Formats: sequence, structure tokens, C-alpha cells
Amino acid sequence: MKARLILNKDFIVGKVDDRIFGSFIEHLGRAVYNGIYEPGHPTADDMGFRKDVMELVKKLNVPIVRYPGGNFVSGYRWEDGIGDRKNRPRRAELAWHTIETNEIGIGEFQEWAKRAGSQVMQAVNLGTRGPEDARNLLEYCNFPKGTYYSDLRRSHGYEEPFNIKVWCLGNEMDGPWQIGAKTAEEYGRIACETAKIMKELDPTIELVACGSSHLYMPTFGKWEATVLEHAYNYIDYISLHNYYGNRDNDTRSYLACSLDMDKFIKSVVAICDYVKAVKHSDKTIYLSFDEWNVWFHSNEADKKIAPWQIAPPQLEDIYNFEDALVVGCLLITLLKNCDRVKIACLAQLVNVIAPIMTENGGRAWAQTIFYPFMHASNYGRGTALIPVVSCEKYSTGKVKDVPYVETIGIMNEDKKELTIFAVNRSLDDDIEFEIDLRDFANASLIEHIVLEHDDMKAVNTADNPDTVVPHSNGITDVSADKAIARLNKHSWNVIRFSI
Ligand code: AHR
Repeated sequence: MKARLILNKDFIVGKVDDRIFGSFIEHLGRAVYNGIYEPGHPTADDMGFRKDVMELVKKLNVPIVRYPGGNFVSGYRWEDGIGDRKNRPRRAELAWHTIETNEIGIGEFQEWAKRAGSQVMQAVNLGTRGPEDARNLLEYCNFPKGTYYSDLRRSHGYEEPFNIKVWCLGNEMDGPWQIGAKTAEEYGRIACETAKIMKELDPTIELVACGSSHLYMPTFGKWEATVLEHAYNYIDYISLHNYYGNRDNDTRSYLACSLDMDKFIKSVVAICDYVKAVKHSDKTIYLSFDEWNVWFHSNEADKKIAPWQIAPPQLEDIYNFEDALVVGCLLITLLKNCDRVKIACLAQLVNVIAPIMTENGGRAWAQTIFYPFMHASNYGRGTALIPVVSCEKYSTGKVKDVPYVETIGIMNEDKKELTIFAVNRSLDDDIEFEIDLRDFANASLIEHIVLEHDDMKAVNTADNPDTVVPHSNGITDVSADKAIARLNKHSWNVIRFSI
């Protein structure tokens, strides 16, 4: 099979906001406890953070990490996690039915994020709490000194404010499962008033209002429109969440789920712009796709976990090779929409539906999905070029007109590099992929990285962490104004040129 991509350096989607490579740590399962934090572990640092995990996190180059939830935040009392650890209460945590020890709270997580080279994207509780607590939390985090909460922070050893820039106004407030779920009217009002108060206290922050919990929520669309009608002037982003899975073991359809993500993004953009029009506003609302990933492998196992444990192994999806291809397609889709998607968070980062796994007291390793994320985060920064693609398409019982090649080119003018990400969705055929480089005279190949495996269900484990790993032996021939790359059947490709 053959396919062709034309790239023109003047035809751009937009500048990629680095925060599109964000991730997420929730107080859930073994994400925090026995994930990023395990004081007795042989690699633990002076604060009990695992250095082996930190090393893997750093490879992913994550600029922003959403915290502390997720569903968890809707019942969270942030004051439980500050001050002397001896006095911190244990709580029955109602979102995930565990015991929360509060050993890690806002201050410790700030420190972890600093060590990881990330910013924190802080969520406030709009489930059981409201504007007053959000305001107090913001004062604790961002106010320099001389007020009750800023001085409380200083008394806890944090002299300098945390200066958290991005704040989420609650989490999935449309979901019946959410603690303190709300109607769109109720949430729109509370989001507006909370945003107003928070921006009075710190006008430099950016705020994310909750969109629908996923594309197929019965209130999707109307929810976004109503929330935006109320809060438009005070917020900066609306959130999107979606998880994907191969529940019917229909890989050809599964590999097409990024088309669904694309539809979701374009629908939310249309709703934002509809509200902009009816408000005669000059302001544009951007998108924060702050929960996305594959999530389905662990669903059955989770039903068997006894409640009220500390850090049980919840949501521990073991990802296979085809999941990595899907994550690659999803990353390309986010990049293709980077004119409006400014923030995105791979949910989550460690142990809980995560690219990084750990054993309690033992090893840490990279799952299959680690690699496309690592490549995109390290080589996908710059300007996204409009991908003009010609290739064959396929259909299944569930999806129609799926291009065999999913691709995007990113030009990094600072580094003088052009990187092309491409997934070949075909289960049977290699593709001869012609890249028209007419605009990049003298481009030379740096490397062609490939992630591939014969077995779509192959996984990485603690004993065999290198079953699915990338290699740099991809074949790309460059001539004057074009390159011919071989996209092996069902493969993820990163083709890097110096320009
Ligand atoms: O990421 C796991 C959960 O998925 C989050 O807590 C919630 O926001 C979503 O439903």
C-alpha cells in the first residue's frame, strides 16, 4: 500500500502548547502511596519519593500534572493534608472506597512536582464544598504573606507561594457517580461564582470549567453550552474527558477510536464558539483534555477489591501493544487540534491506568503506552503543520472511512528539526509513505524510530520489561525534496529530520 503526506511550513495548525503533554496523579489506588511515594523503598529520597519512579517520569518530560483528582477531589478536605503529619486525620474516602491517610497533601505534592520538573494543575472541590474553600486554598497556595492562610503555609515551612497557575473548578460534575454532582444550571452558577472570587484574589490564574465526563453523556452539548453561558467571562478552558477500550476485541475498530476523539474536540470547539457568538464576545475559550487514555483492562478486577484499604491496586490496566498504537493515534489527534487544545493530561501517570508501573518495595517499569507518549512529549514540541494526507481508508461494522495512516508533522524552529509521527493502522500491509519535503530543502534524516510487535497483545511486565520497546532501525530514504518511509504493518513511527 502507498500513502502520501505533504507538509508546507506556512500551513500551520498552530503552536503546540507544551502543556498538551500533561499528566495526572490522583489520590487513588497506588498512584500516590506506593507509586510516587514509598518511604521504605530502597530508592526513596529524603521525602520518601521513589527515585526509580521519578527517573521514568522525567523521561516523559511532563510539564504539568493535574492533582489531587479526579473523583477524589469532590469529597476532599485540603486542610487534612497540611501541617504536622502526626495530626493529619485518616478519612473514609467515598469516591474509591479506600482509607486516605493524608500523608501526602498539597505541600508535599508541590515538592514532588518540583523535583519532577512539572507544574501542578490544582483541582478544587466543588462537590461537597464550594467557593469559600476554593478561595482559602488559593490563598494558602498563591498569596505571598500577611494573611491567615498564606501565613499558615509559611508556618508549614513553605515561605514562598506555590504560584499555581492552572486550577480546575471541580471534576466531572455532570456524572451521577460524582460526589455532589450537579445539574448544568447548578454547576454553571457555582463555577461562575467560584471563578469570580478566585480571580479577585489572584488575577494571574487560569481556570478550567468542567465539560461533560465523556462524549456520550446524555447531557453532552447542552451541558457545555449552559456552563459556558454562565461562566464564560471568568473561565479560560473547558475540560474534556474520555477513555477508550477494546471491549469487543475488535482491533480494527479500536484503532479508529481517535476519530471519536477528533469528533469530540470539534464538537466542543463548535459549542464554545456558539456561546462566543451569542455573547458577542471577543474572548476564545480553549480546551483542556485533562483526562484521556485507554481504560478497560482492569474493570473486572476492580469489582473484586475489598473496600476501605489503604492504596489497593485499583485501575491497574496492563497495557498491550495495540493500546500503545491507540495512544499514539490519540496523541496525534491532540496535536492535530493544538490550535484549540492547549492542555491535555494522560490519565494517569503511575500505577493507576498509567504508563509507569511499580511493585510495592520492588521494581518500576515502563508499560507499552509509555513510549509513544515519551516520543510525542520529547519530539512533538514546536509548530504543528496541517497534514495533507492521501491514503486508503477502511471501514468496519462500527466505523467508516478510517485512514490507514494517522499522521502529523511538527516543526521545531529552535532545534531546527522536523518530526513526523505516523501510525500504520493496517493489520496486514506495510505502507510506502512518501513525505513531500518540498519546503524543507536539505532536510536530513536523524532517525526513524519504530514501535512494533507481531503480537498485538504483547505486554511489558516487571520480569520482562523490554518485550515492547522502540528501535531506531526504521527505513526512510531521503532524496532532494522527498522522503520515502516504510511504515511497517501496525506500527508507531517517529521520523526525525534535521532541517
Ligand atoms: O482517572 C480515573 C477517574 O476517571 C477519575 O477520577 C475521574 O475523573 C474519571 O471518571
